[in-house]
Amino acid sequence: MKRVITYGTYDIFHIGHLKLLQRAKALGDELIVAISTDEFNLKKGKRVMIPYSQRVEIVKNIKCVDRVIAEESWEQKISDIKRYNIDIFAIGDDWEGKFDFLRDYCQVIYLPRTQNISTTKLKNSLNSAFEIIEALKKDLE
Ligand code: CTP
Repeated sequence: MKRVITYGTYDIFHIGHLKLLQRAKALGDELIVAISTDEFNLKKGKRVMIPYSQRVEIVKNIKCVDRVIAEESWEQKISDIKRYNIDIFAIGDDWEGKFDFLRDYCQVIYLPRTQNISTTKLKNSLNSAFEIIEALKKDLE
């Protein structure tokens, strides 16, 4: 019985998120996803579009996800690994090397990211669309 844990915000859920979760689950038998709260995101300098409760609702209903917990700080990972008897910590390779210190507690695996999609890209596209709409509105005034 191998338990995998992964961490993330999962704002504006997209195909890269789904593939990451599926790849993480394929490493073991049970997948726990720690989702960053809105407050923790603000500390990281990220303002989310979808509130925590809705991000949790979406991710916990993904087939390959067995459990969702809250990520409220950078420091909680070691205690989560111990509390949930984690065998593997997995995360996208945009974090390559950043969590090697967890190797004292479990296996650490960086998974390939899906190309050409991210929440930041989606947010930028939405912002550009809003800017165009605002400019058109001004023209009509
Ligand atoms: N992820 C991925 N492929 C993508 C985007 C994200 O594999 N194209 C992975 C990340 O590496 C991470 C998890 O999905 O392990 C959650 O990522 P998150 O930061 O919530 O999503 P991003 O789309 O990367 O958001 P942002 O642009 O705000 O960083």
